[in-house]
Amino acid sequence: MTWNTERQFTPDPVAKERALADFATYLNPQKVRVMRSAGLDLIEAQRSGPWVFDLAGQRFLDCFTSAGSFNVGRRHPRVVAAAHAAVDRLDHGNFLLCSKEKAALAERLAAVAPGDLRCTMFGTGGGEAVDFAIKLARGATRRPTIISTVNGYHGHTGFALSAAGRNAFRSPFEPLMPSFTTVPFGDGDALAKVIDESTAAVLLEPIQGEGGIIVPPPDYLERVRALCDEHGTLLILDEIQTGLGRTGRWWASEHFKVTPDIMTTAKSLGGSLVPISATLFTEELREFLIPNPFIHLSTFGGSDLACAVALEVLDIIEETNLVQHADVMGHRLFAGLHRLAAEHPDVIVDVRGLGLMAGVQYAEDSFGPRMSYHLAQHGVLAIYSGNQPSVMRLMPSLIVEEEEIDFLLVALELAINDLLEGRGPSAQTPTRPRRRPARTAPPEGVTHG
Ligand SMILES: Cc1ncc(COP(=O)(O)O)c(C=O)c1O
Repeated sequence: MTWNTERQFTPDPVAKERALADFATYLNPQKVRVMRSAGLDLIEAQRSGPWVFDLAGQRFLDCFTSAGSFNVGRRHPRVVAAAHAAVDRLDHGNFLLCSKEKAALAERLAAVAPGDLRCTMFGTGGGEAVDFAIKLARGATRRPTIISTVNGYHGHTGFALSAAGRNAFRSPFEPLMPSFTTVPFGDGDALAKVIDESTAAVLLEPIQGEGGIIVPPPDYLERVRALCDEHGTLLILDEIQTGLGRTGRWWASEHFKVTPDIMTTAKSLGGSLVPISATLFTEELREFLIPNPFIHLSTFGGSDLACAVALEVLDIIEETNLVQHADVMGHRLFAGLHRLAAEHPDVIVDVRGLGLMAGVQYAEDSFGPRMSYHLAQHGVLAIYSGNQPSVMRLMPSLIVEEEEIDFLLVALELAINDLLEGRGPSAQTPTRPRRRPARTAPPEGVTHG
């Protein structure tokens, strides 16, 4: 596949400034300040595959991808064609009626889902999918308690927010839903202490995304599964960021050989064009819905248009062997990241992740935003984790080829040099180049998953 890497529009810095000013006036001025200070004040213009152009003309390799929303790239020609064809004959559809498109997508999801997750409830976004997962767990078990993990991220809707592992997101809105509790991620003993016969479900990301790309110990998920089975508790895996090939497997749970009872997916399912999410679950759990087919409704959830697009996304992943490709590209990325970490231990203290879900842990919090700034100067859009500002998330589209991985690695090296030499807006002006990076406070965080 060849992508438009040449700019096909006239740069318009004045329109960009106007958009930022209007955003500040009519949406949020602090967001504009934060994005400017981290060099992330892009106004997206041309979008193509793994690339995006700022309205002022600069090209970026998109390594944030809206937190893993562009696995098949942006405006993939097949996705765009499927969307056009869908618009020509469909619309949202009538949510109350049965639909051919919903049925077709649910069948395809059942075919690619792990274990015996054969049933689907559609939604529009990730938070909504998690909300339904929790409702189903409570409804089917008739138990109240939901255990999630510290620094876990599941969205900002009602039940999902109640499960958030970060107080800053939750505290202004308390009291939230009752009977939610968190345990440290990766710690089976901590879970064993709190799980009991009142626990409806354990909810976690197989690899924490917003929490700073945290891969749990190899036997953790198996232990969680065993504890759930022992107590008759359901296991909900949130694969909204980790799924659809991101980690070099269809689902991250495959790395750990664990099958959930309920799984959520969203983001990349919409192929960068349409909002859609899905909660997958077993036929056994579906029993709860048989007498209650109208107990959870969403006007736009799994719209006919979105289902047609999502079907094409699944076809692209399968027909282009994108999952295996992500694994191969991931190995190249991680080899380069480990080399950079070995050369710059003052800057990078850890490299972790799987497939094309990589986390670079910097030596201190301030480096996250400062490296975002420097990487932007070198044509890479990369954003530090909201829950861990010292961690840079590198999650390019899965369609990247070797030359794009190499472009990213060169940009990282150049950005590290800029940091070491004290360049950038938040560093003190150095009188001479220094090897130890300047230590300055980070700007306030970018805090969305
Ligand atoms: C793991 C995970 N769950 C849920 C969500 C929420 O998805 P949405 O923003 O579509 O509601 C996100 C978003 O980043 C996520 O990463």
